Amino acid sequence: MRAVVCRELGPPEVLSVEDGPDPLEVAGRVIVAVEAAGVNYVDALFVAGRYQIKPEPPFTPGSEIAGRVVAVGEGVSETSVGDRVLASVGLGGFASLVSVGGSQLAHIPDALDAPRAATFTQSYCTALFALRDRARMRSGERVLVLGGGGGVGLAMIDVARWLGAEVIAAASSVEKREAALAAGAVAAIDSSPDAVNFRELTGGVDLVIDPIGGHHSGVALRALWEGGRFVVIGFASGTIPMLPANQVLLRNREVIGVDWGAWALSHGSQQAALLSELLDAAGSGALRPVAPERFPLDDVTAALNALLGRQVTGKVALIP
Ligand SMILES: NC(=O)c1ccc[n+]([C@@H]2O[C@H](COP(=O)([O-])OP(=O)(O)OC[C@H]3O[C@@H](n4cnc5c(N)ncnc54)[C@H](OP(=O)(O)O)[C@@H]3O)[C@@H](O)[C@H]2O)c1
Repeated sequence: MRAVVCRELGPPEVLSVEDGPDPLEVAGRVIVAVEAAGVNYVDALFVAGRYQIKPEPPFTPGSEIAGRVVAVGEGVSETSVGDRVLASVGLGGFASLVSVGGSQLAHIPDALDAPRAATFTQSYCTALFALRDRARMRSGERVLVLGGGGGVGLAMIDVARWLGAEVIAAASSVEKREAALAAGAVAAIDSSPDAVNFRELTGGVDLVIDPIGGHHSGVALRALWEGGRFVVIGFASGTIPMLPANQVLLRNREVIGVDWGAWALSHGSQQAALLSELLDAAGSGALRPVAPERFPLDDVTAALNALLGRQVTGKVALIP
């Protein structure tokens, strides 16, 4: 099989693409021929040695895959050869073949092609977990999504729209703002200036979704109405913001943290139900994931650099 290999920690340039032995058929596991692998921030963090979990090189990065089952180990009842499946694998996804535990798989609805399916789990599960389970979002609420043209941002817009919210997006480029509007935002704010008055531009919101951090976070907090919730998703800007506690006190606001990955690991059956609900909604057309930008597996370095360089609208998928 062909696989991306990280032999030393560092920037995406340290990665090579190599031929290696195919995974063996093992009891309880299946082998999936990967048709697309989702590329996420976390993959770059693994390669740089900056994630909480630090695997020893050599290893193959890649946390999400979609493809077809080509072999089924003894004792696996969940799937058969030929099924279209997706899985979150943590590591090892940037490869043409992957060995996956039978219970880790989910079946892909016909409405999702492999690149959409491979980039679905992290962003959509984070969105539904954040909006409904953590932030208790109600239909009719107004939500400001920062980084609205990013992978998590577009999923947030789609899921919030599906749950009945009025979504306003903020993004730095025309292309990203157009993508946010196409995903269902009713308005899109240009976040490229250093100072953006979100309160004035939105007229006030019930929820702020922040996957970026940095200098816009504190200003966005001030846009919250009485009882508004500021939802901390991530720090794509590289800067963890210091939120002013007086602004949290005022108007009985809340700051809510979201760690979907940790929750999913410790709540296996609830995570499976969450993903199944989302896949059903995507299958019926109620959710409309945007097609990711595609790169051949051999261009893994370019794919990660495009993500890190803020050039990507939506998600990125590698095609083996
Ligand atoms: N808490 C959780 O459970 C959870 C789950 C999944 C992901 N996350 C985190 O959420 C964050 C966003 O993930 P994502 O997949 O949406 O990433 P993404 O697709 O790369 O989008 C992030 C957005 O951040 C903005 N940005 C601002 N400064 C940036 C910089 N210096 N470099 C890169 N982007 C910058 C960009 O929007 P503009 O150009 O419009 O500013 C970009 O579109 C990441 O930090 C990720 O680790 C958290």
